[in-house]
Amino acid sequence: MKVLVTGASGTLGSQVALALQQAGIPVVTPTHQAVDLTDADAIAKMLETHAPTHIVNCAAQRRPDCCEAGDEAVIALNVLLPKRLADYGCPLVHISTDYVFNGANAPYAEDARRCPLNAYGRQKAEAERLIEDLPNVLILRVPILYGPIQDWSNSAVTVLAANLLKAKGASVMMDDIAIRYPTFTCDIAQQIVRLLPEVGKRFQGIYHYSGEEPMTKFTMGMTMAPLIGCEATQCLPDHRPTQVPRPYDCHLSTRKLRQTGYFVEPTSFAVALIKTLTAAQAE
Ligand SMILES: NC(=O)c1ccc[n+]([C@@H]2O[C@H](COP(=O)([O-])OP(=O)(O)OC[C@H]3O[C@@H](n4cnc5c(N)ncnc54)[C@H](OP(=O)(O)O)[C@@H]3O)[C@@H](O)[C@H]2O)c1
Repeated sequence: MKVLVTGASGTLGSQVALALQQAGIPVVTPTHQAVDLTDADAIAKMLETHAPTHIVNCAAQRRPDCCEAGDEAVIALNVLLPKRLADYGCPLVHISTDYVFNGANAPYAEDARRCPLNAYGRQKAEAERLIEDLPNVLILRVPILYGPIQDWSNSAVTVLAANLLKAKGASVMMDDIAIRYPTFTCDIAQQIVRLLPEVGKRFQGIYHYSGEEPMTKFTMGMTMAPLIGCEATQCLPDHRPTQVPRPYDCHLSTRKLRQTGYFVEPTSFAVALIKTLTAAQAE
């Protein structure tokens, strides 16, 4: 095997590349500086140069606010890139999102009708449509992510810790409406290591992976405050709607993956959070 991981500097891609390396699998991780993945020619050249046997696509613009305008570069990354990688023909794991659903009818099975609320969700849904029936493709939908990361503000979970520290004892408003299932990137990485050799053989199509603890950003903040030397009372529940609409509860059912016998049991939020926050503090 020789696995090409795109987006390997990101929250998820960094852990996927690390887990593959730790499993003794050769990995190539072209950087954004080396290859602009919005450029079809650059993608073709990258594939020719590295000739991977497998691809894991973790590159994306995942901030809904940055996707709303539908810029050409964002469409190229979120919609066209997965198809360009799939057309290469080797087994591909493409990462998608719970935001392909509107959050009104949780839990969602893999074959539930896609009904995104915002542009990010529509782009990720369109990417899925373009590749879901190809024989060598596995689409892994995941919800809000956190894990070892250099800059806490790059994850929607650890940014809460960064905001608490920055506030130096002052209050921080945190969304207390949307139900989220924070999912540890190290768990997803282990799940991908386990699935990847069987993509195109035993596994094809859409699968879900998710943590199982329902939380709002406010309850996440309350859990993390004491771990970083802050007071839980700094966290204030915010009940105002966000500017770009976000789904209420997109709980992804993991039943299909559990039934395969290949499922990696998610680490509890409390345990994974300590690993995440101490990894950063140790740097
Ligand atoms: N984060 C979440 O909470 C969440 C939730 C559900 C699903 N997902 C999905 O999970 C996957 C991974 O997300 P993530 O949170 O790990 O994202 P991330 O941390 O924002 O990382 C994105 C990666 O894409 C790379 N990238 C962006 N534009 C590029 C370009 N034009 N050319 C080459 N590389 C480019 C970035 O490189 P540079 O940093 O060098 O630009 C980075 O390595 C995505 O498919 C996302 O939609 C994420």
